[in-house]
Amino acid sequence: MAQHLEGKSAIVTGAGRGIGRGIALALASQGASVIVNDFGGTVEGEGRDQSPAQQVVDEIRAAGGTAEANYADVAEHREAEDLVRQALDTYGKLDILCNVAGILRERMIFNMTEQEWDAVIRVHLKGTYNTTHFASIHWRQRREFGRLINFSSSAGIRGSAGQPNYAAAKAGLIGFTKSCANALARYNVTSNAIAPGAATRMTDRGLVSQDATRSGAPPSEAETGPRDPANVAPVVVYLCSDAASNVSGRVIGASGYQITLYSDIVMERQIFSDGPWDIDRLFELAPETIFEGLQPPSGDRPSGARSSEA
Ligand SMILES: NC(=O)c1ccc[n+]([C@@H]2O[C@H](COP(=O)([O-])OP(=O)(O)OC[C@H]3O[C@@H](n4cnc5c(N)ncnc54)[C@H](O)[C@@H]3O)[C@@H](O)[C@H]2O)c1
Repeated sequence: MAQHLEGKSAIVTGAGRGIGRGIALALASQGASVIVNDFGGTVEGEGRDQSPAQQVVDEIRAAGGTAEANYADVAEHREAEDLVRQALDTYGKLDILCNVAGILRERMIFNMTEQEWDAVIRVHLKGTYNTTHFASIHWRQRREFGRLINFSSSAGIRGSAGQPNYAAAKAGLIGFTKSCANALARYNVTSNAIAPGAATRMTDRGLVSQDATRSGAPPSEAETGPRDPANVAPVVVYLCSDAASNVSGRVIGASGYQITLYSDIVMERQIFSDGPWDIDRLFELAPETIFEGLQPPSGDRPSGARSSEA
């Protein structure tokens, strides 16, 4: 069978568990040499543990693949620099960077503390900037090939009510992804964002599962069907390959067995005046033109779930 990533080298952050683990295994199975990064913290981003990254490295090697562990906290600038340097020192180049690492600290906006805000923005936004910054220096020098995959979320696209920090970070990553697509195109680098859906410890937090309560086991651990996090990986493999050089600056959904291409935000309606808007005129016109027929969101919570998602 053809291997689609033969000779490529990759970093996958947050690859000790969940979706990142599935991506690291899939990239390696397709011939890529992988740096498996994970700092091994809790879902809230606390503590450190080397065993999740090491276990994935062991799995890849047992299957005949090539992998090295890295335990950096990607939100620490110097640790992220060392992570990229490890890939360059070990494999001589870096072709693929998948920024999967992420944490959750859910709270309604009126209850959210400064620490909860900062912690989530730090890992998702600063962590993704950190690794991408150092990878992009290499890609700019090399001018040959690069694949950047960032992890967004439907929480950022739709605006999950109980996750203002996470929604802001995940929507911010779409702007970051598009900026990198524009900046790095001339160096043959593509940049795309994934909005995944999978059963992991992140989604266990958002679910009120009777089954889980009864058995005591988190629902994600029993998942072998469509929501198995391994199912996010195939489209990531495709986007990381030579075949996907035409796909950049896009948001792609990967959930279960579905792969979705999201549209860009496009202009829907526009009104204009010959000069500065007369405010009374705007009050007269807006309800019957640009804002005609709009409804505020209901704010309803999906039944059986908290007002949050991963
Ligand atoms: N599971 C879903 O349905 C879903 C939906 C939308 C978005 N996402 C996003 O997908 C990504 C993966 O999530 P998951 O569901 O697999 O969660 P997960 O908790 O199973 O895995 C995330 C991994 O990232 C690691 N990590 C966290 N902060 C880190 C840091 N600073 N440095 C290095 N490693 C760090 C964790 O230790 C963990 O192993 C996240 O970015 C998440 O926000 C997941």
